[in-house]
Amino acid sequence: MSANTSKIPVRIAGTGSYLPAKELTNKDLESIVDTTDEWIFSRTGIRSRRIAAEGENTSDLATEAAKNAMEQAGITADELDLIIVATISPDTITPATACYVQHNLGAKSALAFDISAACSGFLYAMEVAQRMISDGNFKNALIIGAEKLSAFTNWDDRNTCVLFGDGAGAAVLTRGDETTGRILSTKIGTDGSQTGILNIPGGGSACPTTVDNADQKLASLAMQGREVFKLAVNAMKRASEAVIEEAGLTAESIKLVVPHQANLRIIDAIADRLTIPNEKVFVNLHKYGNTSAAAVAIALDEAHREGKIERGDNIVLVGFGAGLTWAAAAIQW
Ligand code: COA
Repeated sequence: MSANTSKIPVRIAGTGSYLPAKELTNKDLESIVDTTDEWIFSRTGIRSRRIAAEGENTSDLATEAAKNAMEQAGITADELDLIIVATISPDTITPATACYVQHNLGAKSALAFDISAACSGFLYAMEVAQRMISDGNFKNALIIGAEKLSAFTNWDDRNTCVLFGDGAGAAVLTRGDETTGRILSTKIGTDGSQTGILNIPGGGSACPTTVDNADQKLASLAMQGREVFKLAVNAMKRASEAVIEEAGLTAESIKLVVPHQANLRIIDAIADRLTIPNEKVFVNLHKYGNTSAAAVAIALDEAHREGKIERGDNIVLVGFGAGLTWAAAAIQW
């Protein structure tokens, strides 16, 4: 955990997001797998999701979100020192998706690398970028959560294919001062004993896709939903409480919680345990489903652009994902 008190303060200068145009509704899914809109919506809160076009890569989604964030921050590509892309659906295993984004933006002097922390990835990126700026060596960082999960979805598996979607969100972090808002506290954590309950089992070096196993679609998201559900609620509650306490905040002093957008029942359970009323918790998963590393970033941008976050407000971001990983940040805007 870091309480950002002694070093250079770090603030969010701008946010952005990008969603592919193509919508895939629950109704559409009824003709793909044996499911119903009613089943999906009542279990998850999801009504629709976006699907990237053929040839539209994770780096393309990331680049568009980045441009929106940079425009809002008033920062040009030349001024970027650092680009971190959080993703589990990279364009290629190597090089990093951040390298494609650096080239797309023309951010020639920016260091660029990826983080793989699943749905917690954007907040892992925030933690790393914050520390690099806070130490004084970097000034302007672009952090992006971007996913083309449709490329890693088994469209024959109704247990998973109804849950995920494509999209990207971004934020520009920069040095703050006494007159600006700042990241107050952060917490990230990992439990590597649970790698088997939420993963993409194939396509890596442990289980390459071969002619013999290709029909099993092992390079697709797999999940034990009920186990994940319980662990998600507990981990997000603990991470949120930790950053709220470290920042010296109370539940009453928080204007908005922006949680990972995986399941409305998980979000409601967290709000309940934190004693934060539902109207102070931002939800957009009905439109986009679970976009993994992009979800918190997209939600933050939408909340910001809808005027739900204003200068001086205290907000909490919190996520959870495969790994298992979890992360939270308390921010004064
Ligand atoms: N449509 C219709 N029926 C479906 C279905 C679908 N899309 N997906 C699963 N089912 C069926 C199952 O086959 C099962 O049928 P059976 O009892 O005949 O075997 C039944 O619904 C119940 O399945 P189960 O997995 O027990 O449902 P659930 O109530 O636990 O809900 C999730 C499933 C995935 C919605 C829920 O576990 C969940 O949200 N988990 C957390 C997932 C998550 O957020 N992960 C990301 C974290 S980052």
